[in-house]
Amino acid sequence: MSMTVRFRTLALAGVAAAAFGAGVSGAQAQGQLTVYCAVQEEWCRPMVDAFEKATGVKVAMTRKSSGEIYAQVKAEAANPRGDIWWGGTGDPHMQAAEEGLTEEYKSPKMADLNEWAVRQWEQSKGRTVGIYSGALGYGYNTKQLASKGLPEPKCWADLLNPKLKDEVQVADPNSSGTAYTMLATLVQIMGEDKAFDYMKKLHANVNQYTKSGAAPAKATSLGETTVGIAFLHDHVTMIVDGAPMKAVAPCEGTGYEIGSMSIIKGSKNLDNAKKWYDWALTPEAQGLAANARSYQVPSNKATPIPAQAPKLADIKLINYDFAKYGSSAERRRLLAKWDQEVKALPK
Ligand code: F6P
Repeated sequence: MSMTVRFRTLALAGVAAAAFGAGVSGAQAQGQLTVYCAVQEEWCRPMVDAFEKATGVKVAMTRKSSGEIYAQVKAEAANPRGDIWWGGTGDPHMQAAEEGLTEEYKSPKMADLNEWAVRQWEQSKGRTVGIYSGALGYGYNTKQLASKGLPEPKCWADLLNPKLKDEVQVADPNSSGTAYTMLATLVQIMGEDKAFDYMKKLHANVNQYTKSGAAPAKATSLGETTVGIAFLHDHVTMIVDGAPMKAVAPCEGTGYEIGSMSIIKGSKNLDNAKKWYDWALTPEAQGLAANARSYQVPSNKATPIPAQAPKLADIKLINYDFAKYGSSAERRRLLAKWDQEVKALPK
């Protein structure tokens, strides 16, 4: 090999090595992020893809229900594995905030958010922020209802009809933020004693306490249950898909969620967690929800509200006390009472 050829070969090898090296260190510089996601898998996945594309950060994502993520974050507190907890009802985020399991952070995007999202941040002393909102209700399968000759239910009280025995599905409030929202909602509407009486009677009509809050909406769409209790937007997803269903905002009034986001204390990828946090509050990121058939009301004032989203102004909403029902002592007490007095009842 002549000197010139050898030189050129070495030089090319050097260029390739430099390019490869730059690529590796570039990717490493962007690093990684572990996201605990509590919305529907169909929405978690496009969020992860879009964030990876926008930032070059490599994301590992796990989807679980709100109460399950809270329990996981608590169990991992000595050696946190997650960086950001995105989505799920606000109460377990509030509880985690109070217990010091999440980080204080003020995003530069705060000024772009609706007042209810900022209030969630203030009440948690800067440890969780509102990303979306949605009202609780139930859905029923119109074919199943007609085949049973039942009148259209309109109120919480209508779900106690003995003809609905084993025909109502709802999640377990320990795992599901949706079901905890229902528990806390009934306590706020009826007072604690009457709410527990109601849930004990409802128990006779419940065919299954599911793990995830949206599962009863899916089961209703398939006619596996006549009634499913879930957030109204989860019923709308099924209705948009053509399911023979109607969604009901109960006549006595109903509660709502402030879906939230928190940075996990001790995050090993804190800069990337903050990157996700800021990005997830933008209209570009929040706009991905509607494409994923998730019809919550977004927290950024500039994100268009999906046309399919239930109109909160038309629903009789209670003044849900997020500080009280998201407090550590109250959530633990109510869940323990539900386990003992409702779930333990024979069927
Ligand atoms: O499916 C979406 C959703 O209803 C969110 O609006 C809500 O925060 C979350 O699911 C609650 O899920 P779970 O009840 O399983 O904790």
